[in-house]
Amino acid sequence: MIPINRPIIEKEEKEAAQRVLESLYLTDSSFEGGKFVREFERRFAEFVKVKHAVAVNSGTSALLAALIALNVKEGDETIAPGFTFASTATTSLFVKARIKLADIEQRTYCISIDEIKKNITNNTKIIIPVHLYGHPAKMDEVMEIAQENNISVIEDAAQSLGSEYKGRMTGGIGLIGCFSLYATKIITSGEGGVVTTNDDEIAERLRMIRSHGQHKTYDSKILGLNLRMPQIEAAIATEQMKKLDRFIKARRENSKFFNEELSKIKDVITPVEEDYAKSNWSIYTLYVKGKRDEIVQYLRENGVGAVVYYPIPLNKLPLFKDNQQCLPNCESAAEHVISLPVHPALSQEDRMKVVETLKVAVKKFL
Ligand SMILES: Cc1ncc(COP(=O)(O)O)c(C=O)c1O
Repeated sequence: MIPINRPIIEKEEKEAAQRVLESLYLTDSSFEGGKFVREFERRFAEFVKVKHAVAVNSGTSALLAALIALNVKEGDETIAPGFTFASTATTSLFVKARIKLADIEQRTYCISIDEIKKNITNNTKIIIPVHLYGHPAKMDEVMEIAQENNISVIEDAAQSLGSEYKGRMTGGIGLIGCFSLYATKIITSGEGGVVTTNDDEIAERLRMIRSHGQHKTYDSKILGLNLRMPQIEAAIATEQMKKLDRFIKARRENSKFFNEELSKIKDVITPVEEDYAKSNWSIYTLYVKGKRDEIVQYLRENGVGAVVYYPIPLNKLPLFKDNQQCLPNCESAAEHVISLPVHPALSQEDRMKVVETLKVAVKKFL
């Protein structure tokens, strides 16, 4: 089976992990974090072109820490797209905010600007645009609405490390950016996450929140958790950062090949890259008009690890029972999308297999 993603773990990652193990310096609960964590954060901040990067143990932790840092609480409202990974929105439930789900754009699968406007109330505190599949949301418009209404923006950049919006790195445009290093992401440390910001005070709060609200040992000043990234993960992630440009280049080449080949197939809509956008192609997603589930099953039975991100729009999950209104574009995407392997380890033979198998599947299950 050609997997949907294959982490690229080479000699450098193994040696880095070994170094940490041999040092016996496995974690560090200090405000600053351990030396491997600090080195990873330095590189990450430099890449995203932000002042601060705070490493945590998952993308979900990054989102939660961001909401806590901005003091989001009961009575506040957050706005997020209805078509995304659940934790973009469930993290708002943890801080007892009311989440408003907005519909998405058909072409990019990112949050619709009109829908943001529709959902704003006097209680709206945060907008959470998601750069879904790596394609940037319309950040100029998001930032403008946020400024006009005194709202903060937390970018969910879990899938978009290295994607650019008008030449700016996603995750570095809003007040806070949240990234994931989960194993299917563009770089990985198994699990992991990063919160970015240019605001010194928020960065300080984030560092405290990730380690029990402490500034100095045992002085818990604010409510925090243990969201720390282990040293071994940071050492692996540092090596992955050095390879990020190479990974993105390979994904861009693979996506270009797929776009050329697959756009010839009737009833298949290949993913777009708008003129303001440069995607990292972390997920390559088609919209198919035929019987989607049968097509996915056929692909999988024939060795192509296709996956549906995401089969249920958030407004249809019981967790969001207050948000059961109709979101037509979210629902249509959830019914018709298919993601294909696009990772850097694909050979030319793999790419041809993906194309040929899809052609047969689409014809079979129109
Ligand atoms: C859009 C989006 N948001 C948030 C997350 C949460 O990240 P994690 O799985 O690292 O907690 C993910 C990744 O799964 C994601 O794709």
